[in-house]
This record gives sequence, structure tokens and C-alpha cells, in this order.
Amino acid sequence: MEAAKREGLDSLDAVTDARALDDWRVTYLGKKSPLTQVSRQMGGLSAEERPVVGGWVNEARAALQEAFDAKHEAVEEAALAARLAAETIDVTLPGRKRPRGAMHPLMQVIEEIEDVFLGMGFTIAEGPEVETDTYNFEMLNIPKDHPARDMQDTFYLTEELLLRTHTSPMQVRTMEQMRPNAPVKVIVPGRVYRRDEDDATHSHAFTQIEGLVVDEGIRMSDLKGILEQFARAIFGPDQAVRLRPSFFPFTEPSAEVDVRCITCGGKGCRVCKDTGWIEILGSGMVHPNVLDAAGYDSKRFSGFAFGMGPERIAMLKYGIDDIRLLYQNDLRLLKQFTRVM
Ligand code: PHE
Repeated sequence: MEAAKREGLDSLDAVTDARALDDWRVTYLGKKSPLTQVSRQMGGLSAEERPVVGGWVNEARAALQEAFDAKHEAVEEAALAARLAAETIDVTLPGRKRPRGAMHPLMQVIEEIEDVFLGMGFTIAEGPEVETDTYNFEMLNIPKDHPARDMQDTFYLTEELLLRTHTSPMQVRTMEQMRPNAPVKVIVPGRVYRRDEDDATHSHAFTQIEGLVVDEGIRMSDLKGILEQFARAIFGPDQAVRLRPSFFPFTEPSAEVDVRCITCGGKGCRVCKDTGWIEILGSGMVHPNVLDAAGYDSKRFSGFAFGMGPERIAMLKYGIDDIRLLYQNDLRLLKQFTRVM
């Protein structure tokens, strides 16, 4: 008994962690320990021997148990101390800054344009990017042999379904919602698609903002007035707009709209090719065929429409010379537009 006790107490000195302590407990106090083995054999002893041996066993077990308890406490305290040391938080360290995101410059420009038109009483509508040939071309008076209908220029999904090549189909969809005589005053921002090779000024996917006003007595001077307000709000109070005759199948007459060159102020430079003017959008009076097809009597109603490319507006406004910069999400560009909207 004495030897077993000594050996147990001695070997306990080397124990420093919970796992070793558990092993120790199994060895010296467990079912196969010398103490337990002796206890099991007590039945073979005489009545006089039994209390004597029992006393030794109890004395040894009590000593080992007491030593174990003390060690157990010491090991737990050490473990706790180690954890506390490992988890120490230095509250004096400077905080970690989380980078703050911002709206993409193209989205900023789109929202800015939207705000200008909301301020003039327009509402905002959105339409499907997967369109039918009927809405994208047919009802817009675009003839079957028009080059825009070519497989080279349009992403066709089936014979009748395509990715819209402009936001103009929403002219028809909006009028169909409002016909036969409710006034229409709407802008339509959205994505459009064309089978162009991507380069500095072209992208196979880009955005447009369509505008449409329909009512009795709408005239081209209304178009010019609205666009003048728009140009001043976006490019500065001294801006002027210039309408040049143009052609679109769905407007008659049609006009391309220029603003004074933002880079040189109209004096002439590389950007405006020395003309002093920069084209920003296409527009015109809604063609009577389009009004009639969409359910507005073209003898009573008239309207104007326009379509602009926010990428182009953004590029002019901020002097960005390659449209691809607006799609690449290069932080060196984006970080220049971190004003919070
Ligand atoms: N849809 C024309 C385009 O994508 C722009 C436009 C819209 C022209 C409305 C006139 C009227 O080029």
C-alpha cells in the first residue's frame, strides 16, 4: 500500500495538464489500480486481517484522492489562466476601418438624370430586356429591311424574341397602358444590347434613358424646352441645346440633339472635333404610325420622344475617354466617385 501510494504521489508531480491527470487517475485510482485490486481481494482475508488491510487501503486512497483533488484544481486554474492570457483584448488598439462603398459613377449619373426629370413631373417606368420583335421593331415603324434588324446588329433569342436594342419599345408599352387618351410623361432607364465589338465607344451591353411625352397639343418646342432644362441641370446653367435634322423610323421629324462642348465650352477642341458642339441624344416627334399602333388617335394626340445614353453623358461629364472603364470596376476609377448619394 505504502509503495503504491508513494509511486502515485511521486508521479503526480510530473502531471501538468488535464489529459495526463486523467491518465494518472485511471492508473492509481481506477478499476485496475493496485488499490482497487487489493480491495477486491479483501474477501479472502480473515476477520482480524480485514479491518487492518481495509484501513491501509482507505488511508492510501484518501491520500491519493486528496492529492488528485489538489492537482485537479491547480490544472484547471492553469488552463483558465492560459485561456485568459490568450484571449486578452487590447482595448487601446486602433479600430479596424471598414472600407465604405459608393454608388457606381454610371448609376450616379442615371439617378441624377432621373432626378432632373422627376423634378419636371415625369414618372419612371421600366420594361423587359427580353423583348419581342413586334415591340422592338414592328410597332416602332421599323421596316423589315431596316439594318438594325440584321442578325449582325441584334441578339436574337428566337425568331420573335430578342434582347432589346433600345428602350424605345417602352414607348409603345407605356402608351398601351395609358390609351386611349391619358397624358403620358415618362422616362425609362434600362439596359439595352447590340452586337457591337467592344471598343472605346461601343459596348455590347449598355444603358439608355428613354423619354416620352404624349398629349394633345405637344409640339417640338416642348421637346426643346425640356431638353434645355435637362442640359442645364446636368452640364451647367449656361448650357444651350441645338437640334439637328436626323432620321429615326419612329419619329417625324427627327432631331439629333447637341450641347455646347463640355471640354472647350464651345470654342472648338479635339473632343468636339472643332465644332463646339457635342451630340448627346436622339429625339423627335412620335411618328403618327406609332401613336396609332399604340392606341392613341394621331389626329388628336401628338408627342415627343428622346433616347440618351447615360454612359456617354457620364463620359462627357467626367472626361472619361473609354466606355470600358465604366464596366471594369477598377477601384482606381471608382474611388474618384465616392461621394455618398
Ligand atoms: N431609340 C433610338 C436609338 O437607340 C433613340 C431615340 C429614342 C430616337 C427616341 C428618337 C426617339 O438610337
